[in-house]
Amino acid sequence: GFRGVIAVDGPSGSGKSSVCREVARTLGLRYLDTGAMYRAVTWAALDRGLDLTDQPAVAALSRALVLDVATDPASPRIAVDGVDVTAAIRQTRISENVSAIATNLDVRSDLIARQRALIEEKGAGIVAEGRDITTVVAPDADVRLLLTADENARIARRARELHGNDDAASLAATHAQIATRDARDSTVVDFLVAADGVVEIDTSPLTFEQVVAAVLRVVSETA
Ligand code: C5P
Repeated sequence: GFRGVIAVDGPSGSGKSSVCREVARTLGLRYLDTGAMYRAVTWAALDRGLDLTDQPAVAALSRALVLDVATDPASPRIAVDGVDVTAAIRQTRISENVSAIATNLDVRSDLIARQRALIEEKGAGIVAEGRDITTVVAPDADVRLLLTADENARIARRARELHGNDDAASLAATHAQIATRDARDSTVVDFLVAADGVVEIDTSPLTFEQVVAAVLRVVSETA
């Protein structure tokens, strides 16, 4: 079977995390959520009471952290200096502050180096997802995909994730959050346009199962 590297980028609400986990499970590959690493550094910086705009201090913290990233798609956990933060990094206060960390270029080079090491670890291949995997972290991956979705589809997905429903109040709250984070994130990495050689899948009209099937089709065609 396939034992290579599958790189997947996309904005929040594109459904890429659940799709990538399922693809990894199906193919017996490891799974790497690089967004969780930016969230983990954000958690640590807030935990230490750092000023998130103090870029040298945050970068020094990032480099000093022991990040333990489990790449089993059945339980992708992450620990910071021995503290399991898998649940804590999903809190709203993390989502609201993560862009300040992700736009710190010294944090990015630290995390990118760690991500490359995780991807290259010997053993099974891997599905790695984020914003800059196809372009920066693993541009030579065997399969490179961009999962996009129109804004309404992304907001509805995120609202269901965050609030368990997509009623008007949930949609409004989620819209503000997603738009702010996308605008900040896109100042550093372009994750809305497919780079050369990257296959784009518009997930808006597709069900979860259809997106998984589309990804598996690309893998079997290109690998
Ligand atoms: O994917 P997720 O929404 O959990 O990512 C959290 C944040 O981490 C993003 O909003 C972005 O700021 C940052 N990120 C990044 N590059 C990646 C993955 C995530 O800048 N490869």
